[in-house]
Amino acid sequence: MSRSCGRVCMNPRFFARFYANFLRQSPLIAPMFARRDMAKQRRLLRAGISFLLQYAQGNDYAALRVGDLAASHSRNRHNINPNMYPLWIDALMMTVQEFDEQFTPDLRNKWVAALRVSIERMISQYSVFQRPTVWKAATSSQSISITAAMTPSGQRLMRR
Ligand code: HEM
Repeated sequence: MSRSCGRVCMNPRFFARFYANFLRQSPLIAPMFARRDMAKQRRLLRAGISFLLQYAQGNDYAALRVGDLAASHSRNRHNINPNMYPLWIDALMMTVQEFDEQFTPDLRNKWVAALRVSIERMISQYSVFQRPTVWKAATSSQSISITAAMTPSGQRLMRR
């Protein structure tokens, strides 16, 4: 599986093709990247994928970087809904299949198993990374500092 990554990630056309495949997965995706320098995005993604795979192998530095990705994709920043990740995996696997001549269903399972470890972490942190914000309860003049993730559901709070 690492060798498969080596075979495809070395090819600069791989990432352009990945984004073409990814954007086709849903009409919601293209607008998310509308203002992005895609050449830079492709470079960042290349590093990102290698961190996902190294994290699954227990690499500590990769764990830090996957933590950063979890934070940047969480509700408060890029706000990537967890239901987008299967589309991301499908587009990636479609692209690996196109570029890796040695692709097999077994290899696909290995990729997905490795990616799942990091992606489950990203999804689990979707709602956790909230900037501590000062909120003001609608019914009270007293301000309290809490994170939105801790906001009891159903309680009406207004941003100050
Ligand atoms: C686990 C798979 C993913 C990886 C490895 C990944 C990687 C990255 C990286 C490295 C960046 C740039 C640095 C950053 O902002 O943190 C980024 C930004 C971004 N990603 Fe992802 N991403 C993943 C999944 C997704 C999914 C499923 C979506 C949904 C559409 C998405 C949408 C975005 C957006 C909108 C940005 C910001 C673009 C901008 O700055 O305008 N990502 N991603």
